[in-house]
Amino acid sequence: MSDLILGIETSCDETAAAIVEDGKKIISNVVASQINIHQKYGGVVPEIASRKHMEYIIPVIDKALDESGKKITDLSAIAVTYGPGLIGSLLVGLSVAKAMAYAQNIPLIGINHLEAHIYANLLEHNEIKPPFVCLIVSGGHTSLVYIRNFGEYKLLGQTKDDAAGEVFDKITKVLDLGYPGGPITERLAKEGEPSSIKFPRPLLNDGSYDFSFSGLKTAVIYYIKELKEKNKIIPVKDILSSFQQAVVDVLVEKTLRAVLEFKTKQIVLAGGVAANSSLRKEIKEKANLLNIKVFHPPTFLCTDNAAMVASAGYYKFKENKNSSLSIDAVSRLPLERKYY
Ligand code: KG4
Ligand code: ZN
Repeated sequence: MSDLILGIETSCDETAAAIVEDGKKIISNVVASQINIHQKYGGVVPEIASRKHMEYIIPVIDKALDESGKKITDLSAIAVTYGPGLIGSLLVGLSVAKAMAYAQNIPLIGINHLEAHIYANLLEHNEIKPPFVCLIVSGGHTSLVYIRNFGEYKLLGQTKDDAAGEVFDKITKVLDLGYPGGPITERLAKEGEPSSIKFPRPLLNDGSYDFSFSGLKTAVIYYIKELKEKNKIIPVKDILSSFQQAVVDVLVEKTLRAVLEFKTKQIVLAGGVAANSSLRKEIKEKANLLNIKVFHPPTFLCTDNAAMVASAGYYKFKENKNSSLSIDAVSRLPLERKYY
């Protein structure tokens, strides 16, 4: 018999619910994005995000159930993101998930949001088998992780300051181009020249797997500021293209170094920035030369969604790694932490 898992995700500014069969088949996948609401502030406002989650969560779950053609009594378990993320936002999804699991008397499975981003890959690529190196790049995180087995994560390095996606968002904010910055940058960068401006590549050759993007961000902002002060034309497309290239260079270099050190033949990309076509293209080109395969989720599963939560939940459900109903939301939650 197959298992249907309801996934719930409210860690940031997307209210999402999805039903996934046996960890692989998406039966329904509903995402209510708050992008339009946060756009005018140039980033996510936590208080507004939690209030909107309260408004959307029940309709979104209802829609996921409706579109699946299944009944609530058909569910085997409920998987929900419990961290890391905005605490007020996480609490909304977690409280609803607890109530539903309790009422239906089915297991509740707390999911680490970063782990869910990794599992988004399995919804598309059955063939991924550990060990592999995963680059998790999103609005809140930039981490390189070695995955020996599912559930066994070794953090190789992470950002010391801003996350990669966060910097995309800040640069487009400074340029008054809107939010989120990643897709806007990607679109405009295609028409610019990536080698036209020499922006720094922080920590590129420091030998670690850590990242630092705040220096790059400052360099780009100062570059824009100086042009503005001198009343010069701002070459937006060249700036974005050169900035994007600097980010991609660092991400690709460090990921390739990790995969060579850990002698695996697979790289997995995860998180919102994994939607970036320039990153995908460059890492694939370089990995191909080394006979290394690169996987990434389809774009709609790179950014926050609940199908990835349901997928991660299925594998934990099968191993009886259920959570207690007293599980708490956690704003900072490393991948290694045991939570069952
Ligand atoms: O994974 P995600 O939806 O949320 C977090 O867990 O943070 O990632 C959102 C981030 C945003 O910073 C957004 O600008 C970035 O992913 N992003 C991209 C692209 N699409 C989304 N960054 C670069 N290129 C893209 N195409
Ligand atoms: Zn995310």
